Order: sequence, then C-alpha cells, then structure tokens
Amino acid sequence: MIETKAVILSGGKGTRLRPITHTSAKQLVPIANRPILFYGIEAIKEAGITDIGIVVGDTADEIEEAVGDGSRFGVEVTYIRQEAPLGLAHAVKISRDFVGTDRFIVYLGDNLVLDGIRAFVDRFTENEPNCQILLAHVSNPQNFGVAELDGERVARLVEKPSEPKTDLALVGVYMFDETVFEATESIKPSWRGELEITDAIQYLIEKGANVQSQIITGWWKDTGKLGDMLEANRMLLERLESKIDGEVDDRSTIDGRVIIEKGSTIRNSVLRGPLIIGENTTVTDSYVGPFTSINYNVEIRGSEIEHSIVLEDSRILDVGGRIEGSLVGKNVVIEKHSAKPRAYRFMVGDYSRIELE
Ligand code: DAU
Repeated sequence: MIETKAVILSGGKGTRLRPITHTSAKQLVPIANRPILFYGIEAIKEAGITDIGIVVGDTADEIEEAVGDGSRFGVEVTYIRQEAPLGLAHAVKISRDFVGTDRFIVYLGDNLVLDGIRAFVDRFTENEPNCQILLAHVSNPQNFGVAELDGERVARLVEKPSEPKTDLALVGVYMFDETVFEATESIKPSWRGELEITDAIQYLIEKGANVQSQIITGWWKDTGKLGDMLEANRMLLERLESKIDGEVDDRSTIDGRVIIEKGSTIRNSVLRGPLIIGENTTVTDSYVGPFTSINYNVEIRGSEIEHSIVLEDSRILDVGGRIEGSLVGKNVVIEKHSAKPRAYRFMVGDYSRIELE
C-alpha cells in the first residue's frame, strides 16, 4: 500500500534574521512562544501523516533537542542529515531512502500555514498527480518562486525572478510521488549554487508529468524576515484563549485576551491583549500592549512594550520610550542607566539593528 510521508526542511542558513539566527535555527524562533517548526509538525499530523523526516544541517543538535523522537506530537521523526545547504531539491534528493516509493509532502520548516494543510493533502491523495503545488497571491513575488499558469495547468515556474510575470508565489508546501527523484538527479545548480525545487518541478512539467496547483485561501507566511515574524505572531495571538496561571496583583489591569503562564508575576502593570507571557517572567510597573509575546524567565520593569517578541532570559528595565515592532533575542539586557555622563552605551553583536527615536 502507498503511504503518505512528510519531509520537513529545517537545514539551511538563517541569514535574514541575524543575529537571532546566527547560531540557532531559524525554524525554532518562537511565535506566540512556540517554535515555528512545531506548528508545521502539528499541521502535518492534523492532515493524518505521522511518519516525518526532518532534514537538518548545522543546527541539527538544537532541532533534535527541541523535537526529540516526535512522540510528544504523536508522530515518529527520522532525522536526515544534509551536509551543507545545497538547496531545497538537494534536501529532497537526500530524503530518498526515507521516502522509498511512498507519496510525500515537503514542508519548509520556516513556513506557517494558519488553516493547516489537510485539504491540500486530501486533494493530492484523491487525484494522484505526480506533483501538487500550493500558490498564494503576494505583493512581492520577486522574493519567491513564481508560477505562470495556463488555465489550471502550471506552465512555468521561476525562482525569484527579477521581473515576475505573475503575483503567484510558491508556498513552501509541496506534494510529490517518486518521479520527483528523477528530477532531483537531473537538474543542475542555479545561479545561487543551489539545487532549486522550482527547477525540479519545472523539469517534471517539461517531461509531461501531471503537475497540479491550488491557490491557498487562508493565511500563509514565510517567516524569514522580522516584519513577517511579527505579523505571524499577531495572527497566532489572535487565536489564543485567555488563561491566567501566574499571579496578578490588585494594582494591575488586564484587558483583552491574555495568557500568563505559571510562575509569572505581574505587579502594578497594565496588560492589554492579545498577548502571552511565558513561565517565570516578572512584569513590574510596566505596560505590555497588544500582539506581544514575552518568553520565559524575562524581567520587564518600568517599561512599555507592544507588538514585539522577547525571547527567554532577557531583561528590559526602566526604558523611557515605548518599545514596539521589535524582536529581542535571548539573554539581552536593555536598560536605562543614570551613570554620568549621560550617553548611549551599547554592547551589540554582529548584524544587530538599533533604531533610536
Ligand atoms: O517560502 C516559500 C519559498 O521558499 C518559495 O517561494 C521558494 O520557491 C523556495 O525556493 C523557498 O525560498 P527561500 O529562499 O525562502 O528558502 P530558504 O533558503 O529560506 O529555505 C526554506 C527552508 O528550507 C528553511 O527552513 C531552510 C530549509 N533548507 C534550505 C536550504 C537551501 C534546507 O533544509 N536545506 C537547504 O539546502
């Protein structure tokens, strides 16, 4: 019997979110306090697929530690090591032993599909094409693989064209049968030195394979950049239900949907949701506004923050103005100081970015 498997691509370099992803995996950056990758695993499980291969690269250890054997998600995970980020089609090529002759979904570990992928998988299982792609109308198609259609048929795919012919971007979720391996063996690296998945699918089209497409109706994001990350955070926070497991003193006000996890303390502060505060975090004399995710072991004191993501173990202390639209990494300290002379003092890592008012 032909089974359906999944391969999640979680290797590669996270250059666009540096310095956050300098040493750690971009697929593990949390959105609403949970790694992006977890949403992908859950979407695959929800579509009825439990046999998952995860392609990993330099950040393999971190990913394996976070996901483990998959049992926590009710799936079985096999890790597939990619020696260098040689392209999405290369990652597919090295998954051949894992996939065997089964049908499979390829899911890019930094993509987020809010309404899941069940309908997409069901359609593939029903129609049995050789390949099925998912497309979305976007305002910046030059940053994606772009599709040209001839009616319902996919006529041509081009990776990040400088002059896109349509606004239809390839979403990072694809379905294949084993004919794709003929393509991954045959194509050559692109101008950026990668085996491109778009070229592999273009190869299938040229060989007369049955390549079908579907336009996504729900919300989808490739979370590679800060703005996209914050938007994804906003979308996910909108969907959460209030839950207060931490302590809130009677000088604090809580409005809207707010999650406060256990061990956290809110003192003399205003929290205006939707927002989430992770475990063992303290918020004192502060304002935390809508669309903010504060991770665990964070301290916020005498400060105002909204529409931002703060990772674990960081401290934001007595900052004068309001922080917004920001991604604060792990173990960061942002603090107003009274030392003289009055000056800005930084210890900022490579590729950081600071905007002063
Ligand atoms: O997000 C959709 C876009 O994803 C598509 O529209 C493009 O056609 C497709 O090429 C891809 O473009 P990106 O340039 O955004 O791909 P990125 O390098 O960010 O890699 C996507 C995921 O795959 C990411 O989780 C890292 C992983 N990866 C990447 C490479 C190059 C691997 O596991 N191995 C690799 O060799």
